Amino acid sequence: MNRTWWAWVIPMMAGVGACARHPATPLEPQPKAFGAEVILVSGDKQVAGVGAQLDQPVVVQVNDSKGSAVAGAPVRFAAAGGVAFQPDRGLTGSDGQFTTNVSLGGMAGPYQIVAATTDSSGKRAEVRIEEIAVGYQERLGQQLNAIHCIRCHDPESTPERVSNHDNLSAQAHAFTEGAVLNAISDANLIAIISHGGAALNKSPEMPPYGNRLTKSEIDALVAYIRAVSDPPYRPQGVFYATN
Ligand code: HEC
Repeated sequence: MNRTWWAWVIPMMAGVGACARHPATPLEPQPKAFGAEVILVSGDKQVAGVGAQLDQPVVVQVNDSKGSAVAGAPVRFAAAGGVAFQPDRGLTGSDGQFTTNVSLGGMAGPYQIVAATTDSSGKRAEVRIEEIAVGYQERLGQQLNAIHCIRCHDPESTPERVSNHDNLSAQAHAFTEGAVLNAISDANLIAIISHGGAALNKSPEMPPYGNRLTKSEIDALVAYIRAVSDPPYRPQGVFYATN
């Protein structure tokens, strides 16, 4: 025997270990049908911590040229900047939809994701989806917003929360409204959040938070408002998909 036992066992063990940590990329699924377009169903414009998974999955749908959902059509996700998808490719289900969980990269900023499908001739159709990764301070601001501000500043109600937005006589803007929020300096944002609308000749419906929140919590809210504004507060790099 000119091969010792470890010459066999060690590569086998290495193979097992590698499998557990990096499951082999599944074979490309064979499409059962083809569509003409891919559209976003849900999951865009989410804010998550850097490197963290988005709270909601991203869901897309493949349609034929008449706008009807196509089951068994191929979908592929791609993005730059260390974004990870679980899974990154597959076939649409019986409802024509495909769902993936997305983890953003390690740098704060907006990320662009591309979901693509191909038709029977190999022609590509795609949809671009934006998500935002934020650092610790903005993440804290996001949590404070959910506790104190969102019920007045977000016009949309959710199953957990009824929006108070439409009951207000003065208009509270969504913090994503860059056209309004970007024009307000940091100092004025801090002033209106600390002292409330009345102290600044604005509506008293905007309550003062100077006694309830610390200086660093108010700074965190300002950082969050800057991070989510659309158009961006300061033009920042976008990690464009490279596929
Ligand atoms: C009870 C409802 C209510 C809550 C809660 C509330 N706001 Fe407001 N906010 C308003 C209203 C109404 C205005 C508009 C005031 C005006 O223009 O006269 C406003 C205005 C503002 C503005 C100026 C930009 C704009 O939208 O016009 C900022 C910034 C702001 N709020 C931040 C916050 C933050 C941060 C919180 C949470 C800590 C918060 N608000 C909580 C009602 C609210």
